[in-house]
Amino acid sequence: MASSPIETIEEEFKGEPADLIPVLQKVQSVYGYLPQDALSRISRWLKISENEIYGVATFYAQFHFTPRGKHHLRVCLGTACHVKGGEQMIEVVKRRLELNPGETTKDGKYDLERVACLGCCALAPVFTLDTKIYAQMSVLKLQGILDEQK
Ligand code: FES
Repeated sequence: MASSPIETIEEEFKGEPADLIPVLQKVQSVYGYLPQDALSRISRWLKISENEIYGVATFYAQFHFTPRGKHHLRVCLGTACHVKGGEQMIEVVKRRLELNPGETTKDGKYDLERVACLGCCALAPVFTLDTKIYAQMSVLKLQGILDEQK
């Protein structure tokens, strides 16, 4: 009988290398991210090296290696947003919240993600806080939004 979430997940699959992505999706749905010890266990179970698993998981933006924050910040760095200052938006978040892309603040309040395109390029540069989209951003506007959150 299964006694841990990961054992329950193992019972749902055949344990073949082709199971990797659905297994990672299950693990992330249970834990909210991909914990290191779960990845080690999956590596032994599916007989895929940890490096290979990291390679696959980092390819897909859906996977996270650290617990996610309560609020999700996303800065668009698609072409339109990049040329209109997307990188400067990232720098503002880094300075204001001491937060790098792919990380979560120490208090667990925010995580930050760089995204390729949010599908509203005419409104570039674009930034999102949870489900809210902020269009035609500037460094000052973003600083103001982050300050309001504190
Ligand atoms: S490039 Fe940013 S929304 Fe498309």
